[in-house]
Amino acid sequence: MKTELLIRSTSDVETELLAVFAVDAAAKNAPKPEIRLLSGDDGPARAAQTVLESGEFKAEGCETLLLHNPAGLQAKRLVLVGLGKAGKLTVHEIRKGAATAVRLAKPRGLRAVALAVPVAEGLDPGLTVRALAEGAVLGDFDSDTYRSDRKDRSVQVVQVVAPASSDQSAAQAALREGVIVGESQNFARALINEPGNRLTPTVLGERAAAMCREFGIRCEVHSTEKMRELKMGAFLSVTQGSDEPPALIVMTYEPQGAPAGPVPGLVGKGITFDTGGISIKPSDNMEKMKYDMAGGAAMIGAMRAIAQLQLPVKVIGIVCSAENMPSGKAQKPGDVQIAMPAPGKPGKSIEIINTDAEGRLVLADGITYAKQLGATHLIDAATLTGAVAVALGQINAGIFANDEDSFERFTEGLKVSGERFWRLPLDDDYRDVIKSSIADIKNTGGRYGGAINAAMFLKEFAEETPWLHLDIAATAWIDDAKPWAASGPTGIAV
Ligand code: BES
Ligand code: MN
Ligand code: ZN
Repeated sequence: MKTELLIRSTSDVETELLAVFAVDAAAKNAPKPEIRLLSGDDGPARAAQTVLESGEFKAEGCETLLLHNPAGLQAKRLVLVGLGKAGKLTVHEIRKGAATAVRLAKPRGLRAVALAVPVAEGLDPGLTVRALAEGAVLGDFDSDTYRSDRKDRSVQVVQVVAPASSDQSAAQAALREGVIVGESQNFARALINEPGNRLTPTVLGERAAAMCREFGIRCEVHSTEKMRELKMGAFLSVTQGSDEPPALIVMTYEPQGAPAGPVPGLVGKGITFDTGGISIKPSDNMEKMKYDMAGGAAMIGAMRAIAQLQLPVKVIGIVCSAENMPSGKAQKPGDVQIAMPAPGKPGKSIEIINTDAEGRLVLADGITYAKQLGATHLIDAATLTGAVAVALGQINAGIFANDEDSFERFTEGLKVSGERFWRLPLDDDYRDVIKSSIADIKNTGGRYGGAINAAMFLKEFAEETPWLHLDIAATAWIDDAKPWAASGPTGIAV
């Protein structure tokens, strides 16, 4: 998909589909909505006058209304996209609205879409353009890699139409940012969508390496031998039941002139298929466990975006990839494993209670390794627990932090990204849940607070390093399509 900025009056845009955003500007408790179109000129409002007066269109979030041959406009079609109440308008509605317009175009075979930049009080023009571009790119995604009949449905050109008054170079930069982030998210989504037979740890390593070559990131993909050398006993224990070799993917982005610190370390869970191992999962929904590498894919996508945006900071990305399988060689409940030692300290011993709690095992060694490579601040992303769905449902992902400053910075970022994370606690009092009678710690807590128990386990390895843990198990995949998003991988955490 090509995206371009166009400085023009919306009435003069020649396109297959012109999208104009609309809000309900009626006062609170007003008997009926008062629709306002957010375009630079009043051509679209005139073209849609009759239907607007009918009251059929209420401008609710992602509500759409399609008109052919709109009078007085050069566009072949006009779509009004509702963004909800004027008073509640943020860039997040705009991102979804742009995606909705593109998703309306796709099945109709429309290849060119123009998006009128909404202008409204309180909207930052740069963030608005960025959200439009990002939304358009995200909206174009479908899980159609293996569907020969649907491959040609992509939108080819998206024009972001800004009024003549806008700051053109700022808008151009914002557009580029939105495209990069959206494309990197789609890159992660395509990886997540791959089935376990086609995306083994080795293949994930190859895909990451190819991306790194394209964007100037150093990449090394290690396997069992190096992991043995590093004494990654926790990570190795997960891989031992599978015939597929593991991949320890290490990506280093280091632009010239990057300061010595801080060095963010991104660590992702890359389980390409999670059967549960000997503590095998029920077969209902087990096919979904191909997306157990979504955290790893998010980190690969994030590295891609970081490099393309040329952020002036060194970043280390680590993905711990393996397949969790039962077999004669698989680890068993009751086994004791020794995690990778930190410098000057013995590795922590771990009693395996449940072989299905494998994500925390691979991440434990990934976190220790990131620190050894010089990461001063850590973020991990993982489809770690079913329990996070019980705690937060499928709207908010879980976030855990051992450091207030990192948490606050992350929260600031969410105002731009629109992703939703809700903080869960990590008080020391929870530490008891991972006490083992035979080893330093065990890999599961009790019946309650499963997402917290998993986070407490990881906290043992982050130790004093500022660290954020993102549990995206319930938000990395949606079963039902939304007007603005295809069903399947969401690309959260990129
Ligand atoms: N990959 C799963 C978590 C998961 C569940 C991801 C549902 C996406 C959707 C993880 O490895 C797992 O199996 N966790 C166990 C932990 C338990 C054994 C303590 C779980 O959540 O049941
Ligand atoms: Mn598991
Ligand atoms: Zn898992």
